[in-house]
Amino acid sequence: MAVAGRAEELRRRGIDVVDWSAGEPDFSSPSTAVAAAISALEQGHTRYTQNTGILELRTAIADDLASRYGAPWSAKQVIVTVGAKAALFELALALVSEGDEVILPSPHWVTLPAQIALAGGEVVEVVAPLAAGFRISAEHVIERMSARTRAVLLNSPSNPTGAVVAKADLRRIVEECAGRGVYLIADETYERFVYDGMAFPSAAALAGEFPETVILVGSFSKTHAMTGWRLGYLLGPETVVRAVAKIQSHATSNATTFAMWGAVAVFDDAEQRVVEMLDEYQARRDLLLEGLNAIAGVECPVPEGAFYAFPKVSSLYRDGCNGSTAFAELLLEKGRVAVVPGAAFGADEHVRISFACASERLREGVERLRAVLG
Ligand SMILES: Cc1ncc(COP(=O)(O)O)c(C=O)c1O
Repeated sequence: MAVAGRAEELRRRGIDVVDWSAGEPDFSSPSTAVAAAISALEQGHTRYTQNTGILELRTAIADDLASRYGAPWSAKQVIVTVGAKAALFELALALVSEGDEVILPSPHWVTLPAQIALAGGEVVEVVAPLAAGFRISAEHVIERMSARTRAVLLNSPSNPTGAVVAKADLRRIVEECAGRGVYLIADETYERFVYDGMAFPSAAALAGEFPETVILVGSFSKTHAMTGWRLGYLLGPETVVRAVAKIQSHATSNATTFAMWGAVAVFDDAEQRVVEMLDEYQARRDLLLEGLNAIAGVECPVPEGAFYAFPKVSSLYRDGCNGSTAFAELLLEKGRVAVVPGAAFGADEHVRISFACASERLREGVERLRAVLG
């Protein structure tokens, strides 16, 4: 937040800052969704709906996951939430009690451990090693399970590393969870952002076999460039969905009504848009990675998914610039490039760079980094 605040201050003074800190797509929301939301407003869809969201959207979400992954969920096992963030928070409140443990790979998105702690749970971190491209192994996760484990929370593709949990590891973890009566929570917010032609191994594909174990959280934010609409969703066992719905009824009530009507229209042309978007992101990723890895002292595995690179930069730390926050400040002050310190994700040797920005800004940023660090 400190770096973002300083970047904003510089911009207000008319200084050109290359912003690599954004956690959101630079694309516009789908015009079909915008038109449907406007029409919903005009038609008077401006009142409360059922707490869990309009049936049309819950059905569309369930059908989409059934067609792409063979997922078994029906509309009554879907709850539409105020972003995936609310889904994850409500889920933590529903499942986690004082003393429960939740296993979470690290580096991790900053919000995940905070939500678990707010629910009274304890986070058990499993380090995803840089040498393995930040991929976690099932054995490392299983090793950390105890009688207090309530859930394993996997964010794949990962924010901030871009790592994807391999299909075999995912299956092994789900099997182990099922055997122990532990939930597997899959935060698949970046599900559609996978590169090099990868078929994404979604936990949704295992839900038919392990219906009491798998809980899926997803979002309209990144895939459809709809961050401001605040629409996410959760699917899972009916008991879990009912518990989450009770909490939602006291927290937010339904997600915004006309936004939900807009989102129903997203599915009309989603596949074509996702393909176009992915081509663009793949080109950006390749451009950024080539530039970063050509800078001496920067070590960055190629992210398999999401839209972040998470280079190790600690060999460039110096006296007076020790740690990712000081390093991010240096890049901003001297290079006019905004990145997010890795400390925010539990990895102080790294910084996070978002490639959700135009290629020319990626080129310009790499040039500026070279000038500061070269
Ligand atoms: C890993 C991860 N999960 C969930 C979210 C929440 O997304 P939203 O609340 O916009 O749906 C984010 C947003 O940055 C994220 O990075």
